[in-house]
Order: sequence, then structure tokens, then C-alpha cells
Amino acid sequence: MLTDHAPCSKAASVVIIDDDKNILELTSLILSKNGFQPYIASSALDGFELVSLHNPELVLLDYMMPEIDGLSALQHIRTRFHDTYVVMLTGKGSEEVAVELMKNGASEYILKPFNNRNLIERLQNVLRIREIEIHNRELQKQQEHLLFEIEQWNLELQKRVREKSEALQNAQEEIVQSEKLAALGYLSAGMAHEIRNPLNSISLFIQLMRQTATEPDQIEYQAKILKEVDRIDSIIRKLLDSSRRTRAISSNVQIDQVIDSAIEAFAPQIETRKIQIDRRYHCIPPPITADPCELEQIFTNLFLNAIDAMARGGQLSIEVFESSGRVVARIGDSGNGIAEDVLPKIFEPFFSTKSRGTGMGLPVAQRIARMYEGSMEVESSTSEGTTFRLEFPANR
Ligand SMILES: Nc1ncnc2c1ncn2[C@@H]1O[C@H](COP(=O)(O)OP(=O)(O)OP(=O)(O)O)[C@@H](O)[C@H]1O
Ligand SMILES: [Mg+2]
Repeated sequence: MLTDHAPCSKAASVVIIDDDKNILELTSLILSKNGFQPYIASSALDGFELVSLHNPELVLLDYMMPEIDGLSALQHIRTRFHDTYVVMLTGKGSEEVAVELMKNGASEYILKPFNNRNLIERLQNVLRIREIEIHNRELQKQQEHLLFEIEQWNLELQKRVREKSEALQNAQEEIVQSEKLAALGYLSAGMAHEIRNPLNSISLFIQLMRQTATEPDQIEYQAKILKEVDRIDSIIRKLLDSSRRTRAISSNVQIDQVIDSAIEAFAPQIETRKIQIDRRYHCIPPPITADPCELEQIFTNLFLNAIDAMARGGQLSIEVFESSGRVVARIGDSGNGIAEDVLPKIFEPFFSTKSRGTGMGLPVAQRIARMYEGSMEVESSTSEGTTFRLEFPANR
């Protein structure tokens, strides 16, 4: 259907809606001669069907029609088919009608009778405007999309910066904690020796006093002093032992056996406090790499705390299983839990809420877990009890 005057490589399609058959035929002829692809409809309803079928670039719409008036038809087309532009044809023209039509989305307003050249020029003009507007809309969409993407990136960056800052803060806190631990190791090795000498003297003098004491009160107090001196001595010995001992790392450590061995040492307290033990070993876990004595120290510290937390009896739950290549141990007690303000501090060296606590149990346990590429954290703590979770890489 293209002629020499074709406005573009693909014939622009135009639906002509007019109740006057002569005008329809004539206009259709003019349009096809000028390179357009016309479709004709003698009523607005037929016209809508053609528009939805051919999705035309333009509609030439008669303003005065019997069933549906031109204005309603214009509104219908503009709201349903955004890319179809409407040119109005009308027999009687007035300024107000023109303004009203333009306000409702008409792109052009042509008075009948029109001359051929003028009609084609104006249609081509509308087509050009349409092309530019559609292109602009597309650009705007792309711009919005880009802005949205930039915003998303921005949010992602903010999130990453926040995460990195938190990680940095945690790392700094950990450095402080491990410095405290290192200082403790240094101090304990140096001071233990210094403390044990005067302690030994105290013990000797008390023993001398005991030989001559006659008052029952005095005998009792001296016995208590000796007992406390022994306690101090055993604490110091333990500190020295752990700093002197050479590590015996094995890649064949069964965590369930280490736990069993640790719990055995508490048999007397467990019995007198009437603590029930609920052991759930879901499988024989794969072995892990660690020094079994150090690993046992973790559980010893956890059990000591759990027993402290269950002064009036309760339940100690131990669960062992494998998950995603990690051996997991969960140690739960039914004590009173850890207060919210205490919770963030429990892994800090020397932090304790107990009158005779050293505050070294948990930080030492956590340091050992991390040394073997494991982790140790409080999984939950409520007024019903506390559960610690330990994870170690499984050896397969
Ligand atoms: N199972 C638990 N239930 C309630 N509180 C706990 C539990 N485990 C630890 N805590 C809290 O964490 C604090 C620190 O524990 P950590 O074992 O490091 O030191 P400690 O028990 O106070 O002293 P130490 O273990 O040196 O004798 C405890 O004082 C206690 O307040
Ligand atoms: Mg403790």
C-alpha cells in the first residue's frame, strides 16, 4: 500500500471512524494514496474493535456521531490505548469545542471540508509528535529505572558499610578481649610463683598454730583458713598447668566422648542438687580437630555455670548432631537465665556476677572454641533457662 509519499518505512495505520459513508471512502482513499494503512468504521463501537485489533498509530474520529458522541469516544480511546493518538474531524468548529477536545487528549482538530494536502500534512505532523513523545516516555521510563537501580545500589552500599563497621567494631572488641586474656596468661605465669611462696608460709604458720591451739573456735577457724589456702593453691596450680601444658591436638576427637568425660567429674554435685541429665546424641558425630583436654575445659566451664544457675535442681540438656559439615553441641540448663543487661558482657574476661567468680570461664571457653575454628554463643536465654551452642568443623 505504500506510495512515493510514504512518511516512514512501515505504513502508519489509521482507523477512520465516521458515520458518513462518503467521507469514510474518500478519506480512506486519500490516506492509502499517501502511504497510510487505513481501516474504516461507521460507528464508534466498530471503531473501538478495530483499534484494539490493529493497535493503530492514529484514529481519525468524527465529532458528531449518532450513538456515541465524539468526545466520549475520544476519552475512551485515550484512556484505553495510550499509544494511539486521536485527530478529530468536525463539521462545525468553535474555539470552545477545540479547547474541550484538546483538553481531553485530542492531538489535532480538523474542520470539514478539509483539503487533501492539509489533512496529510497534519496527520504526518501528529505522527512526528507522537514518535517524539513515545520516545520521551521511553527515556523517562529508562531514567526512572536507572534512578531506582541507583537507589537500590545506594541502599546495598549503606548496608555493606554498616555490616563492615559492625564487623570492625566486633574485631576491635575481640582484640581488646584477647589482649586481656594474653595479659592474664602472662600475669598468671609470673604471679603464680610469687603468690605460692607467701601462701606456703601462711599454710606453715597456721599448721604451727594448730599444734598449740586448744580453743575449739580457734581450731575451727584455722581449719577454714587452711581450706581456703588450699583452694587458692589449687586455682593457681590450674592456671600454671594450663599455661605450661603442651597441646596434644588430634584430628580424631569425638565430642560426645569429651562431653561424657566432662560430665562425669560433676557426678557428686549433679546427684546432691538433684539435677536431671537429658542427653540427646542424634548420631555418632564425625570427629573434630582439637586438644581433647582443652575441649573438655569448654564443657567443664559450661557445666559449672549451669550447675551454679540451678541451685535448686533442674535439667541439664545436652544435644549433639551434625549440620552442614559442622558438629553442633547444644548445652541447656533450666536455671533463671541471663539478664538482658548482663548478656552482652558474659564473654568479657573478668566479668562475673558471682561473689566468688573469676569471670574467666566463658572467655576461656570461647577462645578455645575459636582456636579450633569453632564458635560458641548463647543460642537463647530466658527466665526458663539458657542454651549455649557450639559448632566445630567436622572432619570427613
Ligand atoms: N548458664 C548460665 N546461666 C545464667 N548465667 C550464666 C550462665 N553462664 C554464665 N552466666 C553468667 O555469665 C557470667 C560469666 O560467666 P563465666 O563463666 O565467664 O564467669 P563466672 O562463672 O562468673 O566465674 P568463673 O567461671 O570464673 O568461676 C556469670 O557470672 C553469669 O552471670
Ligand atoms: Mg563460670
